[in-house]
Order: sequence, then structure tokens, then C-alpha cells
Amino acid sequence: MQHRVAAIGGDGIGPEIVAAGREVLDAAGERYGFDIAWTEFDIGAERYLKTGELLTEEDIRELSKFSAIYFGAIGDDRVKPGILEKGILLAIRFHFDQFINLRPIKLLDGVATPLANKGPEDIDFVVVRENTEDFYVGIGSRLTGKREKKTLEVVRDIYNVRFGLDVETDAEELAYQIGVVTRAGAERAIRYAFDLAAAREKKVTSVDKANVLSDVYGLWRDVFTDVAAGYPDVKTEFNFVDAVTMWFVKNPEWFDVVVTPNMFGDIITDLGAMIQGGLGLAPGGNINPSGTSMFEPIHGSAPKYRGQDVANPLATVWAGSMLLDHLGEHEAAAAVLRAIERSILDGYVPRDMGGAKKTSEVGRYLAGLVKTV
Ligand code: IPM
Ligand code: MN
Repeated sequence: MQHRVAAIGGDGIGPEIVAAGREVLDAAGERYGFDIAWTEFDIGAERYLKTGELLTEEDIRELSKFSAIYFGAIGDDRVKPGILEKGILLAIRFHFDQFINLRPIKLLDGVATPLANKGPEDIDFVVVRENTEDFYVGIGSRLTGKREKKTLEVVRDIYNVRFGLDVETDAEELAYQIGVVTRAGAERAIRYAFDLAAAREKKVTSVDKANVLSDVYGLWRDVFTDVAAGYPDVKTEFNFVDAVTMWFVKNPEWFDVVVTPNMFGDIITDLGAMIQGGLGLAPGGNINPSGTSMFEPIHGSAPKYRGQDVANPLATVWAGSMLLDHLGEHEAAAAVLRAIERSILDGYVPRDMGGAKKTSEVGRYLAGLVKTV
């Protein structure tokens, strides 16, 4: 059995952590009888600085031949924030319509959580982040009063700017950004969450802010309620996003599957990462169940550690486990996670987890473990 997988190391520590991850997945393949044919893509800051290219038509054409992409990280000090993130990472998510961003929040055995009196039995849930809509649609503008009077009139009409502010004459500068929720977009994410919950503890929590952003998240809630009606044995709950940050810390054991629009999903999964032991241990999958999906650590490129072989590869290895699951290699996926757990219990960990092991050493160690664990 052969699987073809695309690999994008990207920037900063990206190439090192993906190399470590690949070694582990290859070793899992040896044990479980499959072989991964990797195709490397040179996409990221280096190429952008050299050629001005972010994600090219050809990249897209080539990537579309794969059902899985293994992604490291992007982001580089020499490039203004937003360019690589939007031009590469978000461009891939949107282009391939990876409408689910799946982020397990699970405290592994042997990992320390900052939450007092909580253990692995308390911290084990999944965030299903909608990944193509909301405030990520990129509709917005920054306007300067005098020069863009015409546009300001439109904006004023659309938003019915009130409080006595005459936008044309008073507002020197104005910026706006639109969040979009569609019924179809919300429905496919929410349905995914319910299907997931049906195979777990049968509870779905919607996280939104329908008390203030009542148009977008009012629709979200309506769709949630409609979808829930089709799953009578799944318990449901609505949480506002501000409150959920409190409950993640105080009662993480309440959660099983959390489904949330894009922006809040971004924010609460960094909090989730902390309670499961830090960003070094937080993986994510950008999933299009019938297209090209992409698996990555949720942390960034940490440019200052680039090339030093000190970065923690565990989030990337874990993302690799999700990738294997996606390819249908469930046993291998589970073994990779067990290997991660084993290595932590053995104390074979990198610097950010209090150890001294190199990125490549951790990769090699896990590759050994995954064959037996
Ligand atoms: C993430 C990141 C991205 C996001 C950025 C880098 C565009 O923070 O994957 O959580 O906001 O989705
Ligand atoms: Mn984020």
C-alpha cells in the first residue's frame, strides 16, 4: 500500500519539525505495511523573497493531486505580518475548501497542565473550528475620509453609522471588516461536529457570541438547533465565547466536542493548547473530507530557533498522527500517539518541556518507539 503525501516545511523551524514528523510516519508505515511517497514543495518566505511568489497556480495544481499535505509553519521576520499567513496558509485552507479545522485538546499522560487538580481524564475534548467563513473571509477596507468619500457613503449606508457621526466630514479614518456566516457553511461544520460527538461522549457545545453579533451568530445558532434535531441522543449546549474561556480553565471535563465559528475557534484553541501542556503539543487538521486536507502544528514558525535543532516536534508528529487517521491508517495513527506519550513518560523531551533533546533526536526516538509501542 502506498500513500502519496505533499510536504511543505515552510519557514523558521518548519522544515526541521516536518523532517522529524516524516521520520516517525515512515517508521509507522514500516510496522503497519504502508509506504509514504513524499513530494516536497518549496513554498514559503525564502521563495517569496526571491521571486515574489506566495501560492502559485502551479502549486495549487500540483497540491490538488494529493489528499493530504503535511505542513510545518510559515512566518518570517523579513516579511510584513499577514502576507505569508494570508497568501499561503489561509490561501491553501480556502482554495481547497478545508472547511473543518480540527483541534484535539487532550492532556497526554505525563504532561503537566497549568490547571490545578486536573489530569488526563479531565482534559480530553475536540474543537471543531469552522475554517472558511466568519471574519476570515477577507472582506474589509481601511478608508481615509476625504480621499474616499464615495466609498465612505456606501459604508455609511451599509452600516447605518449612528451616534451622530457624520462619516464624510468627521471620520478621518475608518476601517471595517465583515464576518460572514452562511447556512451551508455553518451546517457542514456543525454536522461534522455532531457526527464526531456521536462517536464520542455525545455532547456538542456551540461557542458563539449571539448576544452581541446577533446576525451572524444568530444564524449560526439557528443552524445548530436545526442540525441538533437530527441527533436526538446527542446533548447540546450554547456557550458564549467569553464565558467558555472561563469554563475551559475551571471545568474542562464538561466538554466533548466544541463547535465554533472561525475567529473564536482561533482564539480558544490557543487557550486549549495551554491547558494540554503548551503550544508545543497542539496539532490541527484542516479538513476537506472529499478533497485535499492539510495537517500542521498550530504553533508558528519561531524564526529565532530556526536551524538550531531545538524546536519541539511533538505537535507536528501528532498532526502526522491525524494525517494517518485521515488516510485511513487508524492503527498507525494510534501508535504514533502512543509513541508520543511513551517518549514523554520516558522524559525524552525537548527544551520547552524541560528536557534537552534535539528536534532530530526526538524524531528518531519516536520512530523507534512507534515500531513497538
Ligand atoms: C492558526 C493561526 C492562523 C489562523 C494564522 C497564522 C493565519 O493562528 O492556525 O490558528 O489565524 O488561523
Ligand atoms: Mn491561531
